[in-house]
Amino acid sequence: CGICGVVGHRPATPIVFEALRRLEYRGYDSAGIATIAPDGQITRCRAAGKLDNLAAALKAHPLQGTTGIGHTRWATHGAPTTNNAHPHQAGRVAIVHNGIIENFAELKKILEGQGRQFVTETDSEIVAHLVDSYLDQNMTPQQAAAAALKHLEGAYALAMIFEDHDGLMIGARHGAPLAIGYGEGEMFLGSDSLALAPLSRRITYLEDGDWCVLTPQSVEIFDRTDRKVERPIQIAAQTQSQIGKDGYRHFMEKELHEHPVAIGQTLQRVTDPVTRRITLPDFPFNAAELPRATISACGSAYYAGLVGRYWLESLARLPVDIDVASEMRYRAPPQPDQGMALLISQSGETADTLGVLRFLKEAGQKIVSVLNVEHSTMGRESDLVLGMVAGPEISVASTKAFTAQLTVLAALALTFARERGTLDTAAEQELTAALLDLPSRAAEIFSHLEGIRDMARVVAQARDVLYLGRGSCMPIAQEGALKLKEISYIHAEAYAAGELKHGPISLIDQTVPVVAIAPSTILFDKMLSNLQEAKARGGRILAFTDAAGAEKLKDVAEQIVVLPDVDAFVAPILYAIPVQILAYEVALLKGTDVDQPRNLAKSVTVE
Ligand code: G6P
Repeated sequence: CGICGVVGHRPATPIVFEALRRLEYRGYDSAGIATIAPDGQITRCRAAGKLDNLAAALKAHPLQGTTGIGHTRWATHGAPTTNNAHPHQAGRVAIVHNGIIENFAELKKILEGQGRQFVTETDSEIVAHLVDSYLDQNMTPQQAAAAALKHLEGAYALAMIFEDHDGLMIGARHGAPLAIGYGEGEMFLGSDSLALAPLSRRITYLEDGDWCVLTPQSVEIFDRTDRKVERPIQIAAQTQSQIGKDGYRHFMEKELHEHPVAIGQTLQRVTDPVTRRITLPDFPFNAAELPRATISACGSAYYAGLVGRYWLESLARLPVDIDVASEMRYRAPPQPDQGMALLISQSGETADTLGVLRFLKEAGQKIVSVLNVEHSTMGRESDLVLGMVAGPEISVASTKAFTAQLTVLAALALTFARERGTLDTAAEQELTAALLDLPSRAAEIFSHLEGIRDMARVVAQARDVLYLGRGSCMPIAQEGALKLKEISYIHAEAYAAGELKHGPISLIDQTVPVVAIAPSTILFDKMLSNLQEAKARGGRILAFTDAAGAEKLKDVAEQIVVLPDVDAFVAPILYAIPVQILAYEVALLKGTDVDQPRNLAKSVTVE
């Protein structure tokens, strides 16, 4: 979810609404705004569905006032209905909440015992009731908020406004990010700097346990013990408010075309301009002595991690443990002394991944994170940030951030290999050259769009699709299947091609297309056999390969997209691009909401 708020002198609603637009990537199930009207009363407007629905509702019921809070929701507790939409109001207080109040059932029981009636199915509503119950005891809003926060367990970012207290907003942060933006005679709260970007470049990120009291003229911050504290003001680097589609139909289409630039910019960041060697910032450990690495991430970033494991193990001979972030922390694998934890995240805000970061830090691991948003919560809590330079990624389905992540991981593997003495200079030079050549090879892919569109017409007819890969391209099959599921709603599974015969081959018939990620690597001949097994059972093979592979596949595959020849090392990066384009083209044929597919959010800030 995304939250924002303003206390100021201008009408609050348009300011909050525009901030919600920038926060829509955090969820778009429902949205709402509350303001303090000129008579001191709280007024609210909420709507299920996308922000356009809220815009229409606001047109019918405009909200007045210069103090306001807003929310865009990714539903956790309670269906995404208008009634469950934030802001929630109880008596004299309205709140917006991002996170999950884990002890809400217990608190609800107590509050119900006091005769309070709940009107939503959300965990968030209890916060409004709890604060209001303290107002009932003649506390000031500040005292009531402080008292209520002491009872909340779980994760939250909160913003609250109070009846008859125009020009007052209270915020709180615990486990979910919240930032203050400083204006002239107005102050803002937002889930991230993106929300605050055009409003203020002077930003304070609250620390966990902090809460704050904002008026148009003042900001006071308190820590979890209610001690008044000073937190640094940072100057936000860029305003990301002007991001447009540049003539493309969707952000996803634009971002797919930005793959070569994202890879190129990332390479620039990790290459010494004089020696042309891959050069990363100093590690907070000695890479030669590193006993093991633990990688964790979610979604596409996890698949990038799987490729990273392959590279780190094969090139740098570094043992790697990897798991999705939502499992890693609870599996709690034993950690070596002085190991490295590698977290990968586009946003740097994903709650599951952040949880693993903190868990592994506690377990004594050095934290290295691969991030697109370097000032994010994960960035601030890492020992070393390796920035991918993908630029803002708006489309919910990750595209260029994925190849940028892979680029950083490839650079990391090469650097470790050099420092651990597992790669001779000639081999290092060869692999570096392949990597540096990648932006040009990636750009060539866009001359193969027709072939990919032909494939898309087959895939769009299917109810189920199998993606096959091997070795370092196995995770690319997984990425392809995920992307197809996410944006076209067609069921897809990825399998290691060699595993096909151990089960999923029973699914194969004319109606289940098989998408093969098949560059000519040492595993190609085995892959070919696996595809022949599928074809023999009536499977329709759609293959991504190179010129040499196409020659061998011509009697096996129904359709072939021939990609540029590249070294096997960088094949996963290159092959990710057409695989994502395929999902995009299928989604176009299916007519889905490509940039904001149903039920998803760009950045999931709850566990
Ligand atoms: C969400 C998105 C995925 C993304 C994942 C991880 O689930 O829908 O596309 O891969 O989060 O996001 P992160 O920002 O941590 O890379």
